[in-house]
Amino acid sequence: MEKIILTGDRPTGRLHLGHYVGSLRRRVELQNSGEFDKIFVMIADAQALTDNADNPEKIRQNIIEVALDYLSVGIDPEKTTIFIQSQVPELCELAFYYMNLVTVSRVQRNPTVKTEIKMRNFEQSIPVGFFCYPVSQASDITAFKATTVPAGEDQAPMIELTREIVNRFNHIYGPTLVEPEILLPDNAACMRLPGTDGKAKMSKSLGNCIYLSDSAKEVKKKVNSMYTDPEHLTIDMPGHLEGNCPFIYLDAFATDDDVKRLLPEYDGLEALKNHYTRGGLGDGTVKKLLNNVLNETLEPIRERRHQFEQDIPMVYDILKSGSEKAREVAAQTLDEVRAAMKINYFSDENLIREQSLKFKR
Ligand code: TRP
Repeated sequence: MEKIILTGDRPTGRLHLGHYVGSLRRRVELQNSGEFDKIFVMIADAQALTDNADNPEKIRQNIIEVALDYLSVGIDPEKTTIFIQSQVPELCELAFYYMNLVTVSRVQRNPTVKTEIKMRNFEQSIPVGFFCYPVSQASDITAFKATTVPAGEDQAPMIELTREIVNRFNHIYGPTLVEPEILLPDNAACMRLPGTDGKAKMSKSLGNCIYLSDSAKEVKKKVNSMYTDPEHLTIDMPGHLEGNCPFIYLDAFATDDDVKRLLPEYDGLEALKNHYTRGGLGDGTVKKLLNNVLNETLEPIRERRHQFEQDIPMVYDILKSGSEKAREVAAQTLDEVRAAMKINYFSDENLIREQSLKFKR
């Protein structure tokens, strides 16, 4: 069986370090591993519109931001098909059929959707489209027969639902679709990178993000204001690592070699942590190290972004040809789906032949 990746992001803002360690970095590694037959990365504008119906300009402006972020982290359009969700209408068609295979109560149990409804204060005014987005996400994944979805933990309920839909579809209509698997980040710090304020998640609405496109100056300022250990009042005092942002970020971004290279007096990250918990290591030193590590990661990304920014028409060309290519693949799956569901009236010769016999006297 072919190994196929599909994943994507909502274009509601620039991408940040949470996206990077949660999924982007892995995507680039997988892309360059040569282990996958096809890779699709989708800018999920239709999904973004499910809770931004009144703000289409925001989505429109952020498509290019996300595309620039993709290209600047090293997603290579020669190897990865980058496309825009709304430009593949087959995805809507497929979602419409999947809605018959899922109950309302099943979607209501989705923990990610539950949290999002709370965060957006929807209460009784949940848009139907927003409520159904997990079903539409199942169509994004299965239209490409994806086997692997590299994504953060919050996407796990979507993949689970997708697997259920695939099983139900194949059971009713015959084997047609492929069951995907989620590929989660491999360490806890990457799984759920907290915001710079120490709150659970990096999120634009909380203003606690470091963006891939932030300047070195902005990153430094954000690192310096990071939440650490509020009880660590003097350098001599023992510090706590739990919930301590600079250390969590170091877990996500720094290798032992980075630590040894930038702070030769320490034999890796563990040694640094030990010194901190023992007492005698100041937050300033840790932040300085983190700032250096982040800038080593971000500088080449910024540099590439700057280059792509000089040729926006070319970026749109990439998105256009990616969308055309994605559409061909989805259309092929939809042909198979329609045949399995017996709604391929005009391409089924048997149907017409049998009914001719049935009705002729
Ligand atoms: N829900 C994802 C997000 O919030 C975006 C997305 C849409 C997606 N369709 C997808 C992710 C399919 C993985 C696979 O960012």
